[in-house]
Amino acid sequence: MLHDGRCSAEESSLITRTVTAESSRVSALRSGEVTRQSNDISPGGNEMSDGKMLQDKVVIVTGAGRGIGRAIAIAMATAGARVVVNDVGASLSGDGTEKTPAEEVVAEIRGAGGEATPSFESVANWDSAHGIIETALRNYGRIDCVVNNAGILRDAIFYKMTELEWDAAINVMLKGSFNMSRAAAPHFREQQGGAFVHITSTSGLIGNVGQANYASAKLGIVALSKSIALDMARFNVRSNCVAPQALTRMTASVPANTPEQKLRAERRKLLTPDKNAPLCVFLASDAAREVNGQVFAVRRNEIYLMSQPRPMRSVHRSEGWTPQTIAEHMLPALRSSFVPVDRIIDVFGWDPI
Ligand SMILES: NC(=O)c1ccc[n+]([C@@H]2O[C@H](COP(=O)([O-])OP(=O)(O)OC[C@H]3O[C@@H](n4cnc5c(N)ncnc54)[C@H](O)[C@@H]3O)[C@@H](O)[C@H]2O)c1
Repeated sequence: MLHDGRCSAEESSLITRTVTAESSRVSALRSGEVTRQSNDISPGGNEMSDGKMLQDKVVIVTGAGRGIGRAIAIAMATAGARVVVNDVGASLSGDGTEKTPAEEVVAEIRGAGGEATPSFESVANWDSAHGIIETALRNYGRIDCVVNNAGILRDAIFYKMTELEWDAAINVMLKGSFNMSRAAAPHFREQQGGAFVHITSTSGLIGNVGQANYASAKLGIVALSKSIALDMARFNVRSNCVAPQALTRMTASVPANTPEQKLRAERRKLLTPDKNAPLCVFLASDAAREVNGQVFAVRRNEIYLMSQPRPMRSVHRSEGWTPQTIAEHMLPALRSSFVPVDRIIDVFGWDPI
């Protein structure tokens, strides 16, 4: 790895090879070619072999009926996990319910020789989130990983955002991730182990126009994850975040009117949901035992370790500050280090690799 966080050509090709292998495994599972038996004969035969990585583990993936969650659920099953495929079957804005998305993903996994159970309850409600955990315990007797992926969109420019739009986004994503994590936590504590993978977004980590509710929920999830990592490390519980990128109904809904938006929409076509899954499988596995409290981002074949806030620079005056001395001394001293008010496209300005 280079000092600026980019990969060397060799590392990059290793990453590319690994991702490609996982993608073909996912598509093989989709087409019904991979069975539990064929998972067992992956080269190496240890926990680092793709097929064995989650053998005997039980994983809950929320919002797994479509898009990125579906890809994660399939990848988890391909890696040997028994999967609870949770999806309320809501519209993009979070309205309505439908059983078909979760049922179809379960049928796909079972058809390929994997083990999966559907769950149709909402993560946004405390009792139903506990019900999702109960589904795993009832069917499989344990839980090893929860992937908090369920999400909705209620975009609005800030000065027009309604209380309803704010509450809906916070309830599904931030409160939903809390509900699920809190319901799993006593079981993880008792069994002295477990992993949380929380799906965050560059909208929260970097910023995007018209997404105050979504970005707040997603950055709140980072704080939730870090807090769980701190509180539960003593029980061998790990908690990490992944900011995915993919062309799904969620990103397909982003307007593409300006040349800049059209460029982003064009780039997005390269971003298939399955590209986000291998990292989630790794984080769920024992191979990630040393990884806790981290924030990653995925963009096609790129994996990023994202920064977390730390002091950058400081100034001090031994006699203390007044508003005037702040203007005269602090401002010129720190101005050159101010962080620009960037959007995602300002930071990720090049084509996905
Ligand atoms: N697509 C991207 O580029 C992108 C980028 C950053 C983050 N994300 C995040 O990734 C996750 C998946 O998004 P996607 O793009 O696959 O969207 P999607 O709309 O295709 O899938 C989201 C799923 O969540 C389900 N869901 C919604 N509310 C739920 C609830 N209360 N309980 C259970 N399930 C519920 C929906 O029914 C849907 O099937 C979301 O958290 C999203 O915010 C996506």
